[in-house]
Amino acid sequence: MGVRVHGDRGEEPDDGADADGKGEPGGPGRQRDQQGEQRDERCSRDDGRHEGDLHDPPVVDPLWIRSLDAGRHVRGLPPVHLAPTGFALAPELVRPRECDEPGMTSVRDLQSKCGEEPITMLTAYDAVTAELADAAGVDVLLVGDSMGNAVLGYDSTLPVTVDEVAARTGAVARGAEEALVVADMPFLSFGHDLAEGVENAGRMLKEEGANAVKIESGSHTIELTERLTEMGVPVVAHVGLTPQSVNQTGYVQQGHDPDEAREIFDLAVAHEEAGAFACVLEHIPANLAAQITDDLAIPTIGIGAGPDCDGQVLVYTDAVGLSDWTPPFAESFGDVRPAMAEAMAAFVAAVEDGEFPSEEHSHVADELDDIY
Ligand code: KIV
Repeated sequence: MGVRVHGDRGEEPDDGADADGKGEPGGPGRQRDQQGEQRDERCSRDDGRHEGDLHDPPVVDPLWIRSLDAGRHVRGLPPVHLAPTGFALAPELVRPRECDEPGMTSVRDLQSKCGEEPITMLTAYDAVTAELADAAGVDVLLVGDSMGNAVLGYDSTLPVTVDEVAARTGAVARGAEEALVVADMPFLSFGHDLAEGVENAGRMLKEEGANAVKIESGSHTIELTERLTEMGVPVVAHVGLTPQSVNQTGYVQQGHDPDEAREIFDLAVAHEEAGAFACVLEHIPANLAAQITDDLAIPTIGIGAGPDCDGQVLVYTDAVGLSDWTPPFAESFGDVRPAMAEAMAAFVAAVEDGEFPSEEHSHVADELDDIY
């Protein structure tokens, strides 16, 4: 496609970490296992600030949800599901994805995993990919607005619409069995009007089967995060490089001077206090990410943020080797692009050579031999 820009952060400064990626936050000699211990303590501690009150997802009365007619996402419904329009659908025509089935990853599961085991998140934009990632054991599927660059052919995430994210969130939710599905709120779908932000985010849960939303964070998203959390919409914050601000920041690493680093840190804390249940840290120095991770009680999920986050996220087309370009902080764990290209070229050659379809692909109905 040749237009993928997300992650194309150009020439960037050094990650700011030491060669071993652990950087400075705990001072020289801070070891990963020591930090692991600290993290265990951090994630499971009960210091009155992080537990229960702010960070437990609100308890929602299933009857209340039922009244919204969002039958797909509700546990304990009768065997007829109601479409958002109010039409009754036969159960076999819908694929209910209930919110709290055994085996399904919940916000609480992620919080208890934090500090115990790394959390894994991949983007997904369709049901097939969601199914594969889910079967591979990915904890969280992010229907990222990176779809703009990764699969929709845009040259940034800015043109991505609420309808595009909604359609693809529905597909991912249908493909996923166990993973938590997070819909990414696209550029200008929030931030200028609180009610509109709530409505757009709520739609992802109410109509499309997402379990949570992600919002690129700024001072303008604190109140929205608080309001959504109060209303039962779990929020993932996102600080550091926020590609929707590309026109102000470019795609380069953020937070490499102390003032900028403190701003990112404070923004992450403000969103935790507003109720975010996790925070993506994108393209910041590893030692800054380590300090944020150390301070927050909620899990941090890093991309280009070093090894000390509670989890890692990648754009799936990068992870499987489907992208035509991969950012320097990403890794391809497969080689899907050449494999697809080869399969497609083989199809073209087989048709052109008259080898496909062969007899084995063709069905002949004898009674049609002589219809005129
Ligand atoms: O849109 C996206 O895929 C993202 C991740 C890179 C975190 O925001």
